[in-house]
Amino acid sequence: MLNFKNISFSYGSNLAVDQLSLQVNPGEIYGLLGPNGAGKSTAVMLAVGLLTPDKGSMEVNGQSPAEPEVRQQVGVAPQSLSTYEELTALGNLQFFGKMYGLFGSELSERVEWALEFVSLSDRCKDIAGSYSGGMKRRLNLAAALMHDPDFLLLDEPTAGVGPQSRNSLFENIEELKRQGKTIIYTTHYMEEAERLCDRVGIIDKGKLLAQGTIQELVKEYGVKDRVFATIGGAEQELTGKNHIDELSQLQSNGQLEHFRTERANLEQVFLNLTGRKLRD
Ligand SMILES: Nc1ncnc2c1ncn2[C@@H]1O[C@H](COP(=O)(O)OP(=O)(O)OP(=O)(O)O)[C@@H](O)[C@H]1O
Ligand SMILES: [Mg+2]
Repeated sequence: MLNFKNISFSYGSNLAVDQLSLQVNPGEIYGLLGPNGAGKSTAVMLAVGLLTPDKGSMEVNGQSPAEPEVRQQVGVAPQSLSTYEELTALGNLQFFGKMYGLFGSELSERVEWALEFVSLSDRCKDIAGSYSGGMKRRLNLAAALMHDPDFLLLDEPTAGVGPQSRNSLFENIEELKRQGKTIIYTTHYMEEAERLCDRVGIIDKGKLLAQGTIQELVKEYGVKDRVFATIGGAEQELTGKNHIDELSQLQSNGQLEHFRTERANLEQVFLNLTGRKLRD
């Protein structure tokens, strides 16, 4: 569905995407993960043809993203919201629908569907500027869906969203996958990628560091389950080869107060690959 081959893009002298190669298969949710400034949003803008690569080649459904025909198949929910604060949800969706050539009863049916889909029907006559963070993100998603695209790019669709709206967005995204849409999903939240994504790519400084299913990455990057024991009120990680032997030893000595295990997860893979230094 999407194929990036050695794509590079710089803002002036700042190399934001560096020989990036990615393949996204039809019908999958592909998680694009990376620290702040890694180049995720730039990659999204390149994929929708809003930026043009300096080097490399890319295809969406076998064609250049700049082709008008391709644009009709692609929907984007940008990280910096695309919607207008001074318009109502209804006004926003009518505007986006018209931009994609919808009018008359087709436009009103689509607006009604989109409002219902993101649960904004009852607030559709209030201006978007008065919405909560979650409602704004839901409206941003609805705007991306107006022309019923097959390929969706969702750039941090849950940024600044509370638990209820987040869950509602997850359900929306799962429903879109059931409908057969292909989705690129960028996020900083590893548990979101674990829940939603079929495959993920981890990028940093514009380069792809790893790509695969979460299971493949956990296996490949050698992250192990960890065991922590509380002894004398302090928790410490068990570092021996056989955690069960260590725990039974501590238990029979009467030293073990509590223990817990931490499953190998995507967050560990991410931190191992991108480092633990702060990115501001
Ligand atoms: N319009 C711009 N002009 C100049 N530099 C930019 C612009 N947009 C992004 N950059 C720079 O390009 C690099 C990649 O930024 P980008 O926004 O693509 O990263 P990101 O992975 O989406 O980050 P975040 O997680 O913070 O959204 C960063 O160094 C950023 O400062
Ligand atoms: Mg971004």
